[in-house]
Amino acid sequence: MRNSTRSGVDPFIVMDVMEAARKAEEAGRHIIHMEVGQPGTGAPKGATEALAKAMQDSPLGYTVALGMPALRQRIAQLYGEWYNVDLDPNRVVVTPGSSGAFLLAFTALFDSGDRVGIGAPGYPSYRQILKALGLVPVDLPTAPENRLQPVPADIAGLDLQGLMVASPANPTGTMLNHAAMGALIEAAQGQGASFISDEIYHGLEYEAKAVTALELTDECYVINSFSKYFSMTGWRVGWMVVPEDQVRVVERIAQNMFICTPHASQVAALAAMECEDELQANLDVYRQNRALMLEGLPKAGFANIAPPDGAFYVYADVSDLTDDSRAFAAEILDKAGVAVTPGLDFDPERGHGTLRFSYARSTSDIREGLDRLRIFMTERGNLG
Ligand SMILES: Cc1ncc(COP(=O)(O)O)c(C=O)c1O
Repeated sequence: MRNSTRSGVDPFIVMDVMEAARKAEEAGRHIIHMEVGQPGTGAPKGATEALAKAMQDSPLGYTVALGMPALRQRIAQLYGEWYNVDLDPNRVVVTPGSSGAFLLAFTALFDSGDRVGIGAPGYPSYRQILKALGLVPVDLPTAPENRLQPVPADIAGLDLQGLMVASPANPTGTMLNHAAMGALIEAAQGQGASFISDEIYHGLEYEAKAVTALELTDECYVINSFSKYFSMTGWRVGWMVVPEDQVRVVERIAQNMFICTPHASQVAALAAMECEDELQANLDVYRQNRALMLEGLPKAGFANIAPPDGAFYVYADVSDLTDDSRAFAAEILDKAGVAVTPGLDFDPERGHGTLRFSYARSTSDIREGLDRLRIFMTERGNLG
């Protein structure tokens, strides 16, 4: 059968790394996982308990397309708690993960052939989902002096219909402060481009609080998820905040594309929002891991890194060590038993000289991984 041109999206290279790591484990090797972009912890206890109860008490059928009213209400409340933003719950749309929110946002906002700017390096699926929807991803090569975040000059004259940003970003963990976010919103709106802010790593920040685009404008789409801070990747539940006059547009698409976000996951997500102690304990682990990484990676010969403001990744420039990050990652897996992600996933142009290290797993794993990396780099002759 013939396939559409739209379906010709690239694979997610990190999945190939995960498969290689799995094979090594199957063959009896012990692998430290610094490739995965997910917490090692599960959903908070309160979330699973609430679901166990709901499974006794309710058939867990369809919910309305925009999500359980109580969950939309609780998410709106979070904006008051986290940012002092007064948000109307009617503007909150519960989605099947932020991935489901991207589909809804891109479908609601853009027509075939529209051009959407995305930072490079950036989360790979933006590009692939845009392509699959017949839209045109426009890479914005970001500069180290801007901490690998886009700035208004990067979009000047590009005739974009949309601009997508992420703060904290994957793979860099760097953030946009008020001024930087405000300047990008102004530049995007100045050229008639819709502004979309991916805020999936909010809650996982180490120095300053992350800024939501909603502090600066109501004329934007904000996308978030229960996957990262709330430690619920596999549950496939997230949310989106849209301008009031866009709710009905998104609702009609959501009704038809998804009917609803899994009811069970919505029940668990609502309860997870009351599990602050457990979630803060997870954050303490990432904080400790981050400190170990910032000290240990340079000692292992990976010195060209921008300290991450949030998320659980460090992006390293390894162009002095290799011009083939894929082969280098394979060598690190083979010789050091540490799985890391080649930068090509995040930046097709410059990613052959970068690696992403994740520190989402346990602190003992991070210690062991850093030791292995140092020994590997010493044996490779890269350390004195
Ligand atoms: C920046 C970014 N956005 C979105 C996602 C997708 O997350 P979800 O599980 O909410 O679909 C990820 C996953 O790693 C991510 O890193």
